[in-house]
Parts: sequence; C-alpha cells; structure tokens
Amino acid sequence: MVKNLTVKFVEEAYTIGLQPHLIKEGKKICENQYQVLQSRPDFLKLLIDFQNTLPDAASHQALTSFFAAVITSNVEWASKRTVELVTFGALFHDIGKLKLPHEIRNLKTEDMTKEQLKLYKQHPLFGMEMLSRCSGITEPILQIVYQHHEYVNGEGFPNGLKSNRIYPLAQIVALADEFAKFLETHKEPPIKVLEHFVMNRNNILRFDPTAVKSLLLSFQNRRK
Ligand SMILES: [Fe+2]
Repeated sequence: MVKNLTVKFVEEAYTIGLQPHLIKEGKKICENQYQVLQSRPDFLKLLIDFQNTLPDAASHQALTSFFAAVITSNVEWASKRTVELVTFGALFHDIGKLKLPHEIRNLKTEDMTKEQLKLYKQHPLFGMEMLSRCSGITEPILQIVYQHHEYVNGEGFPNGLKSNRIYPLAQIVALADEFAKFLETHKEPPIKVLEHFVMNRNNILRFDPTAVKSLLLSFQNRRK
C-alpha cells in the first residue's frame, strides 16, 4: 500500500526535465526508504494512517521526499547517509497534520480563521511529538519534521528561526516541500514551474541559496 505512494514521483509530469541520473538516483533512494520502512512497523503504521486520512497530503509527502533526495544529492557536503536522512524525514514532514481537527485538515491556510491558523502552525510540533514515540527515531529526523516550515528570513513557523539557526537538513526539506507544492498547483512542465519558482521573490528570501542552487542544478543541461 505504501508502495503506491511511489506512483507520484515516477509520474513523468513531475520529473520531466530533471537530469536523468538524478531521477534514477532519487527513485532508488526513495525505494530504499520504503524497504527500510518494512522493518519499522511503528513508522509504517503512521504512514498508512496518514495515507488513509489525508491521501493528497500523503502523495505530496512522497513527492517532497523525492525532491529532497534530488536536491540533497547535489549538495556538496551531503554524504549518502545525509541523503537518506533527508529523504526519510521528508516522507514524514507533515505527519503532525493527523493531530489537526478534521475541519481544518483540508483547508487552505488563506481560508483559515486566526485560531485555525494558529493551530495549523503547530503541526510541525505535533509531528515531532508523534515521531518521538517511534522506536529508533533519531534527532535529525525529529528536527527535520519540527523545522520544515522555518524560513531563512525568519518568517517561518513555529519559532521564526533565522538562517543559520535552522537545521540545514530542514532547510532542504522546506525547499522541497514548497517546490513540490508549486509542481502540484502549476499545471506546467517542471522546467517552467522552476522558472516561476525562482522568479518569486518570496522564494529567494525564504530558502537557503545553496539548496536553491542545488535545485537549479538538478535541471541543468536539460533546458530546451
Ligand atoms: Fe507542513
């Protein structure tokens, strides 16, 4: 069942224009993580609950995980272990949404009341708390989940941390999360979506320049 999540990132609509070796590598890393999950029943249960409750959000997590793998593969300082951690953390980044009341789970943030938005902004904390109960959880995974909405300009949540106070792997997942959202909402080829993405001043201010560069490099030499 969880294997079905992989369908999202193999869709050509989301990967066309990426460097072929990165598509291959990204898929391989994600598939390895799904294999790892088979021997981690508590993590697997969370993911299945998430998929049953919020199927669109579950697909989004899988797409985010794929792009987190692709971006990290292009980051100079990242080891194989780092890529695995980022991919795994990204696969659970929104798991805290399971703790949100039913009526706000599927609302867009712009349609939420002040109170609903306040609660929504706690989902990284809820996610960290849920994962902390899983056996074998590591601190990097917890920090990725807890900080995946922190932005380098300090305008993120839940703590409004600035640049170097944000865990570097969480910065990568924040970028992958937003780029995946752009891909899902803009019905255009990924290379076009990338252009919109980098032309948006907010994105330049919110994300780590090294991570943005790595995302750009993922598409290099494929422009037509
Ligand atoms: Fe989130």
